[in-house]
Amino acid sequence: MASPRPRSGTIPSMEASGQELKENTIIVVLGASGDLAKKKTYPALFGLYRMKFLPHDVQIIGYARTKMDDAEYHKRITSYIKKPEGDDQFEQELENFKGFSSYISGGYDDAESFKNLNAALEKIESGYAHKKPNRVFYLALPPSVFIPVAKHLKEQCHAPNGVNRIIIEKPFGKDLESARELLSSVKEHWTEDETFRIDHYLGKEMVKNLLVLRFANVALNAAWDKNSISNVQITFKEPFGTEGRGGYFDEFGIIRDILQNHLMQVLSILTMERPVSFAAEDIRDEKVKVLRAIPPIERSDTLLGQYVGANGKPGYLDDDTVPRNSNCPTYAATTLWIHNPRWEGVPFILKAGKALNEAKVEIRIQFKDVTQGIFKEIGRNELVMRIQPAEAVYLKLNTKTPGLETRAIPTEMDLTYKRRFLDAKIPEAYESLILDALKGDHSNFVRHDELDVAWKIFTPILHWIDGQAGSKPIPVPYPYGSRGPKEVESFIGKYGFKRQGAEN
Ligand code: BG6
Repeated sequence: MASPRPRSGTIPSMEASGQELKENTIIVVLGASGDLAKKKTYPALFGLYRMKFLPHDVQIIGYARTKMDDAEYHKRITSYIKKPEGDDQFEQELENFKGFSSYISGGYDDAESFKNLNAALEKIESGYAHKKPNRVFYLALPPSVFIPVAKHLKEQCHAPNGVNRIIIEKPFGKDLESARELLSSVKEHWTEDETFRIDHYLGKEMVKNLLVLRFANVALNAAWDKNSISNVQITFKEPFGTEGRGGYFDEFGIIRDILQNHLMQVLSILTMERPVSFAAEDIRDEKVKVLRAIPPIERSDTLLGQYVGANGKPGYLDDDTVPRNSNCPTYAATTLWIHNPRWEGVPFILKAGKALNEAKVEIRIQFKDVTQGIFKEIGRNELVMRIQPAEAVYLKLNTKTPGLETRAIPTEMDLTYKRRFLDAKIPEAYESLILDALKGDHSNFVRHDELDVAWKIFTPILHWIDGQAGSKPIPVPYPYGSRGPKEVESFIGKYGFKRQGAEN
């Protein structure tokens, strides 16, 4: 019999991924009492449960140092789960979810605690009919304990017959050297195939859409190079400061927090060559290749800022958890150059800031001027991909004014998801990534060599900011709630950006 025709638009190489865990699976969340677990991991697990994507008969075990009973644990892990309006199944499903979520307390650096955890896992597994149980370990932990936890999990809790996976999340080190140390210590115990390094931007809908937009559209792909593109900006804006996280943030700064990982991931997918297939290693090979063509960022291609109190909001240095004289940047704009035939000479400007005037993450590709001669003062085309909020892709085009007069006016071809895909539910990034980890699909996780090259690009300016390479730079001040340092305008102008309207 002939095999059925594939549904139109399927991507076969993406579907044939790793081994999917469908049953006999325990998910252990380490750091279950912390912020990441409560705000992201558990709401995502609950979302997957509701959409029926968790393995059949799954058990979730929370693990942390805090001593608490199941009632307290359930209260914490559900505190960020919101009831959708008019959803009458919600309460029952939340109760069911609590029913298969339990808690064990233990240390992060003693074998005994992990033996205890293992005994609890074996007890649950003894009830499984199938004798090849799978274990997924999600480390929602501070980096200081990654290494001992990875080691003890391997030594005490690695399931001998089934599939084992470990999910870890940034920060992966503070510079090239410390990242290498961390990566190699984890690698001593866990294979690359077992390891899933999260960068949650890779789980965002519009970031996942980049592959399809780029490689499934001849029209876009044809203009995707230095011949047509003048400059590219990838912008991250957050309307709040470090409130409450000053201590953590000051150690890292905006470059390690956002640019080196989230924006670099977006950049690599935006600029890589077409992969041989959409299988994980083919995609990641191309990402690494393009990153390797980027030299370390120059100081002269960098603008650093720090917010100061304004509009009744405190400045960064007013935060009690921040050292008085900190030069930590809360805003950074850096320009990167890709030395390959496609991109030579095109500036890629990565900008990120806290305490700005709005929440927005977008990619803005500005095309070159139309050949002069016929038109006077005509705007450039721009392709904008808004990652959040309100996913959208729009292309600024010049068009003839409708009517008897012939003039060119700027307009937009607009694909705003809310208007075009009326019933679509956009998953949370963590839902999408945890599901990928359960499926064994690595394409939206960061491979060790991607991290290594990304650190190479940023380490020299990070050392400069940290004072390890001469005197430290002083970030320029910008008011809380503003669009960032006023110097940004001339910074992006110097790379050829021409403002077309009221965009950021
Ligand atoms: C995290 C950073 O990785 O990303 C935070 O540590 C930042 O500082 C957050 O607020 C932004 O994520 P999102 O999904 O809200 O854009």
